Amino acid sequence: MKTKAGAILSSIRIDRTEDRKISVQLYMGLRDIILSGGLKGGERLPATRTLASEVGVSRTTALDAVGRLISEGLLESRIGAGTFVSHTMTGRTPVKRKPSGSDPGTQPRLSHSTVMARQLFAERRRLPHKSQAFVTALPALNSFPMAQWARLSARHLRSGRDAVMGYGSPYGLPRLRAAIATHLNASRGIQCDPEQVFVVGGAQQAFSVIGGMLLDLGEKVWFENPGAIGARNAFISQGAELVPVSVDEEGIVVAEGLAKAPDFRLAFVTPSHQQPLSKVMSLSRRLALLDAADRADAFIVEDDYDGDFYFGGQPLPTLKSIDTNGRVIYVGTFSKTLFPSLRLGFLVAPASMVDSLSAIFSAALSGVPTWPQAIVADFIDEGHFSTHIRTMRQHYKKRHEIVHEHARQFAQHMHVQRASAGFHTVGYFKAEQPDEKDFVDRARAAGLTLSGIGRYCLTPIDRKGVVIGYGAASESEIRQGMEVMAQLFA
Ligand SMILES: Cc1ncc(COP(=O)(O)O)c(C=O)c1O
Repeated sequence: MKTKAGAILSSIRIDRTEDRKISVQLYMGLRDIILSGGLKGGERLPATRTLASEVGVSRTTALDAVGRLISEGLLESRIGAGTFVSHTMTGRTPVKRKPSGSDPGTQPRLSHSTVMARQLFAERRRLPHKSQAFVTALPALNSFPMAQWARLSARHLRSGRDAVMGYGSPYGLPRLRAAIATHLNASRGIQCDPEQVFVVGGAQQAFSVIGGMLLDLGEKVWFENPGAIGARNAFISQGAELVPVSVDEEGIVVAEGLAKAPDFRLAFVTPSHQQPLSKVMSLSRRLALLDAADRADAFIVEDDYDGDFYFGGQPLPTLKSIDTNGRVIYVGTFSKTLFPSLRLGFLVAPASMVDSLSAIFSAALSGVPTWPQAIVADFIDEGHFSTHIRTMRQHYKKRHEIVHEHARQFAQHMHVQRASAGFHTVGYFKAEQPDEKDFVDRARAAGLTLSGIGRYCLTPIDRKGVVIGYGAASESEIRQGMEVMAQLFA
């Protein structure tokens, strides 16, 4: 006849198709039984040989699982007597296991800004991870120089333990801050001290930090309409009031911003390659924006997310490089120049903000992982970064041409915008204007990832169309994708 323990133990299910080791599955099964009170403090476990045969595993596996529970103090072994559930479990309230999602728990009382934000975030943000036509936001991962990266990674993982394992500087690894400042000077015309550079967990964190530093509840932010979804969410989460400002051939319409909210506190713009419309902000618009910020005592966030990849001739100067009054906070990311899972970005603050930012970073943020920063610093200092960017410029230029070459076949239905930087553009529907969502759904069913322009809008705009990303997919996938697009119009 089975003992009580034997009967309970035979309920443990081992799944040999799972990734987890069998001894880990057995350990977790036993742990659950003990924690849920199935076996009580002082009760004896069957011998490991019996346990092994009850559950259908080898004795070594059973010994391994029992050994773990002994070392965790849930079981105790008494020489000559056997293994028992630890006495410390006696009188303990059993942990009740519930199917996940069955108990929503007590709803927390949320802050005002979170309540507002939740209403506005009906649609969850989708961040891509699969290289296919026509995802946006993903660079050409297949062209990344992985061998060099692996060599530098190995070097840093072998280096002094204090250097890679202790707490790093909350502002960013000094070598990386210096490397970023040098790169920005050489390639984006920005002159800054490394102390003005703060390394963050992606541009997204920069937006939250900037919003937290500058915006009080209800303060106004001029926001490009359509505009970047991540930045929009960050400022909304801070309780700011976002003021949609149109984008025309020259970029954000400063006159409209002034008419709607002359008392703005912040303006968010993507001058090198407007997200998502792919326009470049004209020089006169850049100057008008700087002037407006100066007059309103406001600041400008310049999100230069993919400006390194210009391929349409010499780029216009960055806003930061022509900002003489300390109005521009420049934000950059390694998500496009390297790869997004690194979660590394940076902001370059005006000198007047360095003290406040240093206080925020040292008191409330603990910085980002050190060794990826060390690898990136070497990658830049050894010249791999600028080589990679130069190669990628050609790469994206070629893919942009392929998109245009194939778009001719459906030119009567869609006007594809010419871009001069980055790796996405927009296709505007012509005459019949199909419903964006319907078009995107039909494209998805045919294996294409597209986004409607409407997703990027705070308020609807007249022109309808889709955003076409051409960074991540191979040339042949882009060609095939364009053929599929043509069929969607047929
Ligand atoms: C406009 C814009 N800015 C910045 C980023 C990069 O954000 P992160 O550095 O957090 O990956 C993205 C990502 O797609 C973007 O679309």
